[in-house]
Amino acid sequence: MENILITGAFGQVGTDLITALKDIKPHDTIIASDIRIPQDSKPGIEQVILDVRDQESLRKTISRYNVTRIYHLASILSASAEKDPFLAYDVNINATFGLLKTAYKEHVASVIIPSSIAVYGPGISRDMVGSGVPTVPQTMYGISKVTGELLGNYFNRKFGLDVRGVRFPGLISYGTVPTAGTTDYAVEMFISAVEGKHYSCYLRPDTFLPMMYMPDALNALLKLSDADSEKLTNRMSYNVSAYSFSPEQLASAIRRYIPGFEVSYRPDERQIIADGWPRSLDSADAIKDWGFSPEYGFNEMVSDMITKLRSIRGRNKNAS
Ligand SMILES: NC(=O)c1ccc[n+]([C@@H]2O[C@H](COP(=O)([O-])OP(=O)(O)OC[C@H]3O[C@@H](n4cnc5c(N)ncnc54)[C@H](O)[C@@H]3O)[C@@H](O)[C@H]2O)c1
Repeated sequence: MENILITGAFGQVGTDLITALKDIKPHDTIIASDIRIPQDSKPGIEQVILDVRDQESLRKTISRYNVTRIYHLASILSASAEKDPFLAYDVNINATFGLLKTAYKEHVASVIIPSSIAVYGPGISRDMVGSGVPTVPQTMYGISKVTGELLGNYFNRKFGLDVRGVRFPGLISYGTVPTAGTTDYAVEMFISAVEGKHYSCYLRPDTFLPMMYMPDALNALLKLSDADSEKLTNRMSYNVSAYSFSPEQLASAIRRYIPGFEVSYRPDERQIIADGWPRSLDSADAIKDWGFSPEYGFNEMVSDMITKLRSIRGRNKNAS
């Protein structure tokens, strides 16, 4: 039995990870921490207010619950990090270093830290980018994610701490509305379409980016967490992605279910971030080392998102 601490637990990934862990590991203790926690407590989990920059509170939480595994999800994402790079440095770099140090000193068995396609920068060939392609990011988010990967490798080599990570593409989910990333347009577009509203997209219609549906992202995290350490050839930086699409392709796929859905395009500063990222990823290392295999293709993801959002929207309407 494990005692699993999740930092940043009530963001887009954490919210769904809590549910997934409760389903597949019902006997483990889940400690869901964040700087803000929901008012309605989730049954069967411990909810803790924790700012990851506060090392003493982190140490006390790890010690109190005898934490054996940490999913370190607390992060300032790409668009927010460009708005406040000093905060992003503090949360994504300083606090990640502190967390690794505390995990090592408190004998935590393993730490999982998601990275991102933001580690790449301009100047690389942007198609089918593999894990070994040089990382030269120009955004604070990208810099902080590369640093997290390097620190994870360092703590593993130097102290034997079991640290692992995947480079996620844009993630699509219906449970939480993302607000801080560059790929958030996809979820926003779905919500506008289901609510019968026009959507103004902040990226150009032809901006191709790699993406993945949340159930596949969680599967990847959980598979990597439980993989045989000996088989990991690339501990911190496994590229994982299911498909790539552009805003205009997503809009036309949504129109198959919601004809008449209208989108206009008004690129803002997030376009510059997106233009420095890969258009598609090569997930070969993850496939080879721990059997990464996404279940949802693009069309299945679109169909499931619309079904799920329609049902949530119906429930909310009935409740109001
Ligand atoms: N969502 C994506 O599309 C995506 C893509 C690539 C990588 N990732 C990575 O996945 C991880 C989780 O991302 P997410 O999408 O859930 O992000 P999110 O922004 O939805 O959630 C991050 C959470 O961190 C919390 N947080 C911020 N500062 C904190 C602090 N000082 N102390 C404690 N908690 C703090 C926030 O309150 C929030 O709940 C991050 O490492 C992110 O870089 C996400």
